[in-house]
Amino acid sequence: MTPHNEAKPGDYAETVLLPGDPLRAKWIAENFLADARQVNGVRNCLGFTGTWQGRPVSVQATGMGQPSLAIYVHELINFYGLKTLIRVGTCGGLNAGVKVRDLIIAQAASTDSTIVRDAFGPYNFAPIADFALLRDAANHAAAKGMRAHVGNMLSSDIFYHLEPGLAGYGRLPDHGVLGVEMEAAALYTLAARFSVKALAICTMTDCLITHEEISAQDRQTSLKDMVTLALDVAVGI
Ligand code: HPA
Repeated sequence: MTPHNEAKPGDYAETVLLPGDPLRAKWIAENFLADARQVNGVRNCLGFTGTWQGRPVSVQATGMGQPSLAIYVHELINFYGLKTLIRVGTCGGLNAGVKVRDLIIAQAASTDSTIVRDAFGPYNFAPIADFALLRDAANHAAAKGMRAHVGNMLSSDIFYHLEPGLAGYGRLPDHGVLGVEMEAAALYTLAARFSVKALAICTMTDCLITHEEISAQDRQTSLKDMVTLALDVAVGI
């Protein structure tokens, strides 16, 4: 047990999917996992363990933003011994080539967060995905015919930037940053710190260039495709 997690040692599988939204964690557990049981309910930040294709896997919500994710991820690694952590989320689009519903598989995660910057003194640390997870996700997505982009993500601490639209993201879109979400850089930094594997896969749901947004119907289908992909990668299918 931790201040944020009531699970007992052994309640989690070594591999976990990490959505931000607790109700998405519940939806994944109920619709994808076999024999799922709830292992955490503290603050309604729900966690479940079950199986996918006969292999144990957990799903744990992280809440929104890097500080919240960092608490859950730190504890999952250090108190529960997790080894493979895959974020499944949504992101905004910063690149005209990325269409609503496309996946962005975050090869790296740039950030404005002090959570990463403050740990490295004069150095700019580059938070990166685990290569094998990244490769498997890209290969699976291609094999399934999914539109997926592998590249640099921005993990911002700010959802409502002072400047509207793309202006809030400075030069990043011109340097190949494909999308913006709020968690991956902290996940990758903690994974590096504690020598575990991490990946973030996001469905692009709102384009900051065209202002197109995903429809409710498409959201459900796209999330389903993304979760299936993440589960296959998670258990090494
Ligand atoms: N910004 C940050 N996070 C997001 C966005 C966004 O536009 N869309 C989905 N997650």
